[in-house]
Parts: sequence; C-alpha cells; structure tokens
Amino acid sequence: MILLVRSSGRKNGKSNQLLNRIKSHVEDEVKEYDLSQMNIKGCSGCRACKKSIGYCVIADDLKPFFEDLNEAKHVIYASPNYMGEMSGQLKLLYDRHYSMTDLQGKSKINHLKSGVLLFTQGYENELYYKDIYSNYQSILSRQLNTPFALVIYGGDELLSDTISVQEKINGIVQILCD
Ligand SMILES: Cc1cc2nc3c(=O)[nH]c(=O)nc-3n(C[C@H](O)[C@H](O)[C@H](O)COP(=O)(O)O)c2cc1C
Repeated sequence: MILLVRSSGRKNGKSNQLLNRIKSHVEDEVKEYDLSQMNIKGCSGCRACKKSIGYCVIADDLKPFFEDLNEAKHVIYASPNYMGEMSGQLKLLYDRHYSMTDLQGKSKINHLKSGVLLFTQGYENELYYKDIYSNYQSILSRQLNTPFALVIYGGDELLSDTISVQEKINGIVQILCD
C-alpha cells in the first residue's frame, strides 16, 4: 500500500496536481490523507512515545494515519513552500514523527521500502531552498528508517506536460512501484 499525504489547501494547486498524476500511474492500493482538511495537534512533548513501542499517543485525526503507516510499503509527502519552509499543516505531522524512534533514537519502523518528499515553490530556482528541504529529507529518512527521495518543482506557472514535469512524475512513480 502507498500512503499519499497532501498538505496544500489548494485543491488544484501544483502539489495536488502532481499527486493526482502520480496516483493515476501506480497500480498498488493508495491511501490518502489531506492534512489541510484534518484536525491535527502539534507534538505536546509528552515523550510518552519514548516509553512505549507505540507511536504518538495524541488522539486526533492522525491516529488512522499512524496505523496505516504501519502497513504501508511506500509513503509520499507533498508540501508547498511557505516562507522558505514546509507548510504548517505538514510541520504538525512532521514533528510527530518524533514518536517513530525509541529512547536510543532507533526507528520503530522496519518495513517501509521508500519515501518521497515533494516540494512545490514559487521561486523557479529549484536549488534555492534545497539545503532546507534536504534537512527534512534526512530527518524523515532516519525517523522512518527508509531512504527518502527529494523532488522539487519550482515556478508559479500551471503545470504543463514539459519533459521536466514528466521526468519528475516518472521518477516518483518508479520509486513507488519498486
Ligand atoms: C504563505 C505563502 C508563502 C510562500 N512562501 C514562498 C517562499 O518563501 N518561497 C517560494 O518560492 N514560494 C513561496 N510561496 C509560493 C508557493 O510555494 C507556491 O505557489 C507553491 O507552488 C504552492 O503550492 P501548491 O500549488 O501545491 O499549493 C508561498 C506561498 C504562500 C501562500
């Protein structure tokens, strides 16, 4: 199963368009979460997750997500760039990945095959925020114990069928179908 996580409030925005196209190319079962429509709390820092083998104990809309994460083979997170960072909605989930590692920092996850972190941004230079994105990429790889690929789409024009867009979609589909 592939877990697909949206975090832009723009239904027809670029990240959602990209995700829709990726979804239409994969054959595996896809489970979707749209963080912009969910009630999610931030990490409370209670550290209950460090004292048990379970994940985050906060009972909100992320509860089924964590259960699905336990079954998923691949996971893809998509975010628009807001003020040089990931969206606030994704950051709430991102912080709660703290619960994926134990007291020694060892991940509780051992079945995910791969992850993808997809960013869209207004600025056309796709390297401009790469260091910030790469930091998220390495932390997610560690927390979820699986390699994460980083894909960036820059530019404010609507998505078209350029070779570069096709290549990004094909690259992600290949990772999710492995
Ligand atoms: C609140 C806000 C902050 C933004 N900050 C940046 C920014 O710092 N750098 C940038 O390149 N684009 C920025 N943008 C533009 C978005 O990243 C860009 O339009 C993105 O592709 C939107 O993704 P979406 O279509 O999936 O919603 C910002 C947009 C908003 C609404």
